[in-house]
Amino acid sequence: MKYNLSKIKKAKKILDKYECVAIPTETVYGIAANAYSDKAVKKIFKLKKRPKFNPLIVHYYSLNDLKKDCHINNNFIKLFKKFSPGPITYILKLKKNSKISKIATNGKNTLAVRFPKHKISRNLLKTLNYPLAAPSANISTKVSSVCAQDVKDDFGNNIRFVLDGGKSVIGLESTIISLINKPKILRLGGLEISKINKCLNKRLNLQLNFSKNLSPGQMKLHYSPGIPIKLNIRNPKKNEAYLFLKKNKTYKKNFFFLSKSGSLKEAAKNLYSTLRKIKKKKISINFSRKN
Ligand code: TXA
Ligand code: MG
Repeated sequence: MKYNLSKIKKAKKILDKYECVAIPTETVYGIAANAYSDKAVKKIFKLKKRPKFNPLIVHYYSLNDLKKDCHINNNFIKLFKKFSPGPITYILKLKKNSKISKIATNGKNTLAVRFPKHKISRNLLKTLNYPLAAPSANISTKVSSVCAQDVKDDFGNNIRFVLDGGKSVIGLESTIISLINKPKILRLGGLEISKINKCLNKRLNLQLNFSKNLSPGQMKLHYSPGIPIKLNIRNPKKNEAYLFLKKNKTYKKNFFFLSKSGSLKEAAKNLYSTLRKIKKKKISINFSRKN
């Protein structure tokens, strides 16, 4: 805990100076900066090579902090009570007097907000007097980071400090739900839709169509490992990695698996890290859904 405390203090010092810090969350790592500062959030866009039109997600410690910036509604309260802090992001209406940087939102009157569960990030947020804009810690269009080393591999010396919180326990991004009009799911992620449906007592619409631009980050090229992937291949070539959902009985050097038992949760947790591992070995990927 002492170790964490001194690291958290260091992160705060850097963030207070309008610089970026990589933070651990239970979903994936984020590149964080003061969400109230144009100067600070501009640095996130530059580091990630993120297009200006793609607004940033903002992380809060408490409901009281959020209420300074956003209007809340009944659906939000129901979901917040059940799932936050945790892997769900809400799209809410911004208040007119909100201090959120207009560069972070790209001038939109809505805001993506999340309450991360990871202890280190919560403790950090508690010490700050501003919320943290923190999109996933990867170069735009590439695979997200699920541990400190991934962030270092992507950003090298360009990021001042990576707050190490171990491997992200979920390993996939948060589920995004728009609560602006009728609730709509904009991105699938760490929280199952069935649980959200149960909580709201509704069957929600999925609005995952990137061409509608409802969630500007859902672009055609996204989560790209930077090497070719072929699906449902039966016989991979020798120089190709063969990726299984479930551990395969035969072992070969080019065989990889996402879960010992075939558990989707475990597979989700290992997906990005396995893609990164294969990329480092400089082999391309075949993915077999069969086994
Ligand atoms: O789990 C997560 O959500 C991680 C961790 C670090 O919190 N963050 C994350 O951020 O995945 P990012 O920026 O990679 O994805 C956020 C998505 C983007 O696709 C963005 O377009 C969308 O949220 N978004 C941001 N503001 C929005 C808004 N006002 N309306 C609709 N979508 C929005
Ligand atoms: Mg992302």
